[in-house]
Amino acid sequence: GVEGCGKSTQAEALLERLTSLGVPTILSREPGGTTLGERFRQILLDTSQSEMEPQTELFLYLASRAEHVAKVVLPGLLRGDVVISDRFGDASVAYQGGGRGLGTETVEMLNQVATRGVKPDVTFLMDLDPEEGIARLLKGRGESARDRIESEVLGFHRTVRETYLRIAAMEPERFVVIDAAQPRE
Ligand code: TMP
Repeated sequence: GVEGCGKSTQAEALLERLTSLGVPTILSREPGGTTLGERFRQILLDTSQSEMEPQTELFLYLASRAEHVAKVVLPGLLRGDVVISDRFGDASVAYQGGGRGLGTETVEMLNQVATRGVKPDVTFLMDLDPEEGIARLLKGRGESARDRIESEVLGFHRTVRETYLRIAAMEPERFVVIDAAQPRE
């Protein structure tokens, strides 16, 4: 979902719940989840890199994903773990394909390469008006703490939200759309 929708909070709650039920579960994130991926994350979110080309941005997210799938997701699945990823391929489709205008089909094709065809069994889309999401972020940590993507104009985040909803509608068997304006519980 968009910034400030509560993904990380819910992902942690899901991890706790599954673990308490005795289900072996790991929680990871993108960009990041590996040492190299966390370095890509630093570059991607660095506000001093405001001139980064959209294509460069896309390839760095894909690079983080390629590492994450090979080093964390696939080994986890092979062990029989449930793997929760706080963001995955759909984020690139929504942000770079939609938000940056690189095209959703192009990004989906490149995701295939980065993920070696691994797809989530279920994807939770936390749907929220980006204006409310950004307001939540600012309430939590103040204007100066916005990262490079969070600092994008509202129109960008609106396109991201619309793209997410569009891809969710195209794969209703995979997506669960949650109204993220609801309270945390
Ligand atoms: P996070 O704030 O959810 O940890 O994600 C970091 C930022 O990266 C967030 O603004 C969304 C953005 N993002 C993309 O633009 N494309 C992607 O493929 C991913 C995984 C994240």
